[in-house]
Amino acid sequence: MHFDILTLFPEMFAGPLGTSIIGKAREKGLLSVDLRNIRDYALDKHAIVDDTPYGGGAGMVLKADVLVRAIEAVKGDEPAPVVYLTPQGRLFDQQLAAELAQLPRLILLCGHYEEIDERVRQKWIDREISIGDYVLTGGELPAMVVIDAVARLLPGVLGDSTSAEQDSFQTGLLDHPHYTRPAEFRGMQVPEVLLSGNHELIRRWRLKESLRRTLLRRPDLLQRKELSEEERQILAELEQEFGKEENK
Ligand code: ADE
Repeated sequence: MHFDILTLFPEMFAGPLGTSIIGKAREKGLLSVDLRNIRDYALDKHAIVDDTPYGGGAGMVLKADVLVRAIEAVKGDEPAPVVYLTPQGRLFDQQLAAELAQLPRLILLCGHYEEIDERVRQKWIDREISIGDYVLTGGELPAMVVIDAVARLLPGVLGDSTSAEQDSFQTGLLDHPHYTRPAEFRGMQVPEVLLSGNHELIRRWRLKESLRRTLLRRPDLLQRKELSEEERQILAELEQEFGKEENK
């Protein structure tokens, strides 16, 4: 998959895109990233990219001509959706990450401090994405979040192909607890079942703990999920357990 990033601060991307899993995936050619500085598309000698808003008021607005020149230059002749990172966009979640991971190419437009001229939005932006209900200084961190979440779903990016399938959210549930050696740490034991070697018991314990976590921390996820017969049964068990605790 190929990402084109339009930004005023390309240097911000070096760490996250050059390190660890994403860095290795780029080395292996599983994903490629092209960083373009929006300022390179300003034609005047001071490379001005923004101007004061019509109607007055605080803040600056990124200029339409500069942005459109940049978008058209990266787009070339190949169709590719242009995504604008903004708190006004659709909330990014695992489902949207999975949808985007199906595409061969994505162009990500990052604003910084300021809004973009609305006419660019109307005609050159295909999707708007927000990474959460808070305001950041620019779209660079959100673009990195989107690339990271999408890239790890691409075939071959995660070493163990099952690890993305087991993720919190991918299954519609939060992940179960994890333990590693030693079996006892400062008097705290690893649950017996995980040491039993009984794969069926371990599978059911993990499912139950996933359901317990989701029920306690994110009951909204359960309401959206289609539950299997087994999941329904385990939820009934959990509700009974909680009921007993309340009656103590
Ligand atoms: N730009 C500034 N804040 C943002 C957010 N929460 N999501 C996406 N882009 C942004």
